[in-house]
Amino acid sequence: MKNLIYICDLALYNNKNISLSGWIYNKRSSGKIHFLQLRDGTGFTQGVIIKDEIDSKYFNFYKNIKQESSVYIEGIVKENNKLPFIKYEIIVSYLNLIDNTFIFPISKKNHGSAFLMQNRHLWIRSIKQYAILRIRANIIKMIRLYFDNKGFILIDSPIITINSCEGTSTLFSLTWFNEKKVFLSQSGQLYQEAACMAFGKTYCFGPVFRAEKSKTRKHLNEFWMAEAEVAFANNKDNVKLAEDLICFIIKNILKDNKNELVNFLKRDISILENIEKPFPIITYTKAVQYLKYIRKNIKNLELKEMLNLEWGMDLGAPHENELSKRFKKPIIILDFPFKIKAFYMKRNMHNNNLASCMDIIAPEGYGEIIGGGQREEKIENIILEIEKNKLSKENLKWFIELRKYGSVPHSGFGIGIERILMWICGLPHIRETIPFPRTMDKIYP
Ligand code: 4AD
Repeated sequence: MKNLIYICDLALYNNKNISLSGWIYNKRSSGKIHFLQLRDGTGFTQGVIIKDEIDSKYFNFYKNIKQESSVYIEGIVKENNKLPFIKYEIIVSYLNLIDNTFIFPISKKNHGSAFLMQNRHLWIRSIKQYAILRIRANIIKMIRLYFDNKGFILIDSPIITINSCEGTSTLFSLTWFNEKKVFLSQSGQLYQEAACMAFGKTYCFGPVFRAEKSKTRKHLNEFWMAEAEVAFANNKDNVKLAEDLICFIIKNILKDNKNELVNFLKRDISILENIEKPFPIITYTKAVQYLKYIRKNIKNLELKEMLNLEWGMDLGAPHENELSKRFKKPIIILDFPFKIKAFYMKRNMHNNNLASCMDIIAPEGYGEIIGGGQREEKIENIILEIEKNKLSKENLKWFIELRKYGSVPHSGFGIGIERILMWICGLPHIRETIPFPRTMDKIYP
């Protein structure tokens, strides 16, 4: 195979002869000219087979080629600005079928999401999934770049743990060798707290697991989270860091993935283009008052019922939606009631009933993308909360010890990759934001 190139590099070879391998995405013909839409994972192009300019043997291959046949072609690259995803096409001079195929189950017709999810291993070849998963990869790259550039050290938290971080009701358990019960981690945070006392500013990035029996459009049972932790930082510093990270991600995704967003996903990017610091900040208490006011004026009885809220209750998806629909930027919600937050939270210094924490809610109804706060650094307080929450002091001995040796104020947060991707891509459901989603009813493929 001579001079084999990738589709993403076609611009470098305009008017030159190249060879390329890929899969047939689609085909059409005008009789004397066949058009083969090709993909190779790096982009899309079109092979043009002109009857009068190619050996009839190759011209006649066309009728045998099916969607997803793998092919090798040679030809000359030509610019073509008339097609939506394709900027360069190839006038084919030679064509070889690498492997023909069974009838591909996913065609251009409208398949239901259940069918597509059953065929997720094949569905990821389609244009929309190509765009979403490329943007996902870039978001992850940008998060790493952001933290690396800011002097954070990557310290991987373990996935198997004996501790519960976010409440004992959502733990997946496993049996360890000696018959001991262990869990899949709900969050890398507790270990980041140890890490930031050693390295100052740290982050981890990995899969986390929640055995939630919720079947909403925003919940996965396995999702990926980047978590930052900073020593000598309070919740104000935490808010600033999270806000800056979101702006960095959006700016770079718009720079690198505008084509995918606009042409492949048809995303209206006007809101994304206007995201800049500072974000609106509202306290939980004010948010409850505001939501009560919104609820008063809502006529739809079902929605009114869903928006029922009293101080002390957690904000659910309908509340987050109503709030975020009214803002054009992410909203930062501060100071939730202490009793609904995790055991490690620091109490607000002015009001003991509040936690010094933050949630960041994406605009346009996409809900929470970041959760975090300041951590309790006093040993007697953390022991009290561990006891109140009926957690094992023995298993958390190491975590308690962090408060024994030069304990300092420290804060951190977690950003859910699938949640921010869902918002950036404007997707109605979280299931397309992860290559192989795991939810209550999805463990295949
Ligand atoms: O608010 P959460 O539960 O916070 C924590 O886990 C903290 N320990 C993080 C920290 O401070 N280091 O989760 C953080 C983020 C949410 O804002 C959301 O983006 C995402 O994780 N998330 C989920 N994403 C998909 N499916 C779920 N079931 C999720 N639960 C949380």
